[in-house]
Amino acid sequence: MPAAILPNSAAAEKLEALAAKLTEAASDLRAGTNASPQSHAKLVDTLRSTVEVVNRPTDDLNDMMMGFVQCTAIRLLLKWNVFENLPTEGTISYKELAAKVGGDESLITRLCWFLVATGMLKQEGADQVAHTARSRPYASVNPLSAMLMIGFDEYLPSFVHMPRYFDTYGAHEPSGRLHSIKASAEGQPELTATEIMYAQPERVSNMALAMSSMENMYPLAGVYDYSWIATAAAAKDADTDRALVVDVGGAKGHTLEAICKDTPGLPLERCVLQDLPEVIEVVKGMARESKAGPKMVGMDFFNEQPIKGALVYIIRRCLHDFSDKECIRILTHLSNAMAPDSRLLIGETVLSNPPSRPTAMVDLLLSTIGGKERTIDGFNKIAERAGLKVSGVHRASFGDFSIIEYKKA
Ligand SMILES: C[S@@+](CC[C@H](N)C(=O)[O-])C[C@H]1O[C@@H](n2cnc3c(N)ncnc32)[C@H](O)[C@@H]1O
Repeated sequence: MPAAILPNSAAAEKLEALAAKLTEAASDLRAGTNASPQSHAKLVDTLRSTVEVVNRPTDDLNDMMMGFVQCTAIRLLLKWNVFENLPTEGTISYKELAAKVGGDESLITRLCWFLVATGMLKQEGADQVAHTARSRPYASVNPLSAMLMIGFDEYLPSFVHMPRYFDTYGAHEPSGRLHSIKASAEGQPELTATEIMYAQPERVSNMALAMSSMENMYPLAGVYDYSWIATAAAAKDADTDRALVVDVGGAKGHTLEAICKDTPGLPLERCVLQDLPEVIEVVKGMARESKAGPKMVGMDFFNEQPIKGALVYIIRRCLHDFSDKECIRILTHLSNAMAPDSRLLIGETVLSNPPSRPTAMVDLLLSTIGGKERTIDGFNKIAERAGLKVSGVHRASFGDFSIIEYKKA
């Protein structure tokens, strides 16, 4: 049998330290003081570290293969509405379940058995199956089930295609919107991933729903102090026509709303929401007439920035979709529009070196469309090329999200 990774005494010491952490987590659970996503994430990390202490390479391999088999089993059961047809409470026989979804009893049973084996479904007796708390979310359309489908349908084919892609293009970092891994995997290398997705609106809406499950990784408020903008706007000699905050690629305007709600004296009507014209049309259609909102401007951030000299420009969660060269183009348009006292805020995940697990994963997911996560140095390098100089880095209290402030160099 292959040896454990650590010598026994070192593994025992680590396990004892982790056991103390788990005992602490158990008392937090009992006291109900474990409610925050941060304490849950810490607990998951502790458990993972425990597995890492004891796993042998064969166990690692087994876990990896379990991961993709489990993902496939869930995807198929979702496709055939099996989770939806399991009773919310109580059990159903495999025979009845298969009849309800119109599949072979033997096929449905084998897929369910895999999930029973991993603890996601529960079996009673020899032929009765039931939901657990871990399977119930897959019984409806929600960000979690959409993310599973997106992971399987949109990303996995690109990963499977990677060996062939690199045979063709060599071992070079994929960059640029054309000839991306995703487009090549779909047999359309001359299209961008966005063009491919937008041709099928159902894929876009699934992606949007799935992305909302990741929103707690990117806090909207509490990372950067915007109060200086309200102070500047209230100054006696302030130019009342000057845009205060322009959110570039701001989608439905949720960032601007959160900032203004959190910052007394910062009026939403003095802010500008920018996105692609087709997105702005949809957002305008959704806007309530009674509510004062930002000015909405359809634009393309690869072209000249139409609002000049705003106090602040924000570009949040956009640059990671693009290569360095493309980002320099986007940032140069912003830099050219900025006044000497304007500030640019880049809101993005910032890679640590080495990166955390979730960020390292998202970085490779982004590689499939020619995008990437960046370290602070990575952001500063592209910003410098666009005539900008870093003036502050504001990290979220939890996770890898940061707001980096730049001024004109
Ligand atoms: C991942 S979303 C980020 C949305 C928002 N900033 C946030 O932080 O949640 C990227 C946004 O960039 C917009 N976008 C993509 N390409 C663009 C372009 N060339 N010009 C303007 N907006 C663009 C998309 O429509 C989308 O709303």
